[in-house]
Amino acid sequence: DKAQQDALKKAAGIEAARLIENGMIAGLGTGSTVKFLVDELGRRVKEEGLEFTGVTTSRRTQEQAESYGIKIVDVDDVDHIDITIDGADEVDSNFNGIKGGGAALLWEKIVATNSNKIVWIVDESKVVNTIGAFPLPVEVIPFGAGHVIKKFESRGYKPTLRLDASGKEVRTDESNFVVDLHLDLIEHPQALADDLITTVGVVEHGLFLNMVDTVIVGNPDGPRVMTN
Ligand code: A5P
Repeated sequence: DKAQQDALKKAAGIEAARLIENGMIAGLGTGSTVKFLVDELGRRVKEEGLEFTGVTTSRRTQEQAESYGIKIVDVDDVDHIDITIDGADEVDSNFNGIKGGGAALLWEKIVATNSNKIVWIVDESKVVNTIGAFPLPVEVIPFGAGHVIKKFESRGYKPTLRLDASGKEVRTDESNFVVDLHLDLIEHPQALADDLITTVGVVEHGLFLNMVDTVIVGNPDGPRVMTN
């Protein structure tokens, strides 16, 4: 149930917070698991005097981190990022993952690809044999988005435009739309990634293929670490 899942997310977040050391520049991801990570980092800042600089992947995470007095700078104001800790929606044993359930995939991928080390924190339900049961988020420019969706339909990708509770299009931090692809099983993730990124109007997609170095999996027995 949700309380149990939250406990596993929290355990993974607390474990990952130990990776942040004084003086580091750390990328901070987005989502409910990262929220636990940032809570713990806030605690360490307050109680242990931890000092580090954060680069955030969404306005939400920035607000939460700043509420704890964590120093946040723009990604273009750092020359490197030591480590980025983020959540994920699914990950397989080849370290291929789906991200973007929280619509932050674009900034997440920009921060990740500029990081020396990438760590994901997940609960055990997200570790799968083959990714794809989680709908694959694709960030699309609003202009002409209807045509992009039609192209996805003709390719059999089963796209849906993501709407909020009031029926309005969800907007990313860059004011783009999110189209979710209901693929069930993604057997050839690299071919799919190539197809998506070369479709005009697509800004980025939620396939993060073999990018992550370490996955910390929240388990009832305690966090388990998968190393790539
Ligand atoms: C945000 O866009 C996503 O990539 C999140 O990292 C992902 O959805 C995981 O979120 P939860 O920790 O809330 O499951």
